[in-house]
Amino acid sequence: MYAQFRPRRLDESTRRRYQQIFLTPSDFIWPIFIVDGQDRKEPIPSMTDVYRWSADRVIPEIETLMARGLTSILIFGVPEHKGLAGAAAPDNLAARAVSVLRKAFPSLEIITDVCLCSYTEDGHCHVGDNDATCQILAEMAVSHARAGASLVAPSDMMDKRVGVIRQALDQHGFQTVPILSYAAKFASSFYGPFREAADCTPQQGDRKQYQMDYHNPAEAMWETDADIAEGAAQIMVKPALTYLDIVAATRNRYPHLPIVAYNVSGEYQMIRTMIDTGQAKPDLCYETLVAIKRAGANRIVSYWTPTALAFLSGTGFSR
Ligand code: PBG
Repeated sequence: MYAQFRPRRLDESTRRRYQQIFLTPSDFIWPIFIVDGQDRKEPIPSMTDVYRWSADRVIPEIETLMARGLTSILIFGVPEHKGLAGAAAPDNLAARAVSVLRKAFPSLEIITDVCLCSYTEDGHCHVGDNDATCQILAEMAVSHARAGASLVAPSDMMDKRVGVIRQALDQHGFQTVPILSYAAKFASSFYGPFREAADCTPQQGDRKQYQMDYHNPAEAMWETDADIAEGAAQIMVKPALTYLDIVAATRNRYPHLPIVAYNVSGEYQMIRTMIDTGQAKPDLCYETLVAIKRAGANRIVSYWTPTALAFLSGTGFSR
């Protein structure tokens, strides 16, 4: 039947005409580590070209990226001092950053990370008790919504936190602030560089009691079902590259669900190192981003966002 099939794509324009998967600027969500103070832009040793910013200092950077099509950011507050008091106080670090950025960028989609791991002394995402943790997370989410967050993204993996956060948001008049839930978040060693960036390395043990076991793909569907039932509007699969099967399975199960994949710190740094040492061409990052979308993700949280936006706006790979 295929005897006459000659599939060589001999020229670029033919290849372009048959291209199925396209990345666009609005696919990207740029994760930003925010610190207190003014005029701060500090390198993070574990992540090349990724910084901790004070809110004022990141404004010009966001302006530049918006000119290239940036629509969305994800904020991680990295407090100077540990302590739960800072996590959910009405004027917590992330909330103050949201206010500043909301004022500067009325149309920007500002997503906030809702998790305690940068605030707890032991670096865990909980305070011991599951349900007590959910209450603090709910306060944190409400503070972010009040400051002007477009979406809140709980990344802690406590049981029932989506339901508790949803109820708190509704009670405080934030019915229209959706929850982007990290539904399928696996206990992964790919988070190593992030933990240095967000100062949240567990001081003892690991996160395997709450993050998922990567041996169990079916459990990811179960977690996703539960989070949707509790009121999640969008779900996150994390990490992305070694979990493309989970992205695809979630897409098959929920054809219409907004699915976001988190291209995490270790995945970024791994590819980054290959590019920086000349072992791979700079377009290796683009190839992996296409793969994430091909697997079924609508959008991608990625430290490659500035690079990808530069590429998509026609300036080539700047890094
Ligand atoms: C915190 C959190 C982590 C990441 C996002 N939110 C680390 C962790 O769970 O240990 C990882 C992101 C990355 O590696 O880029 N709960």
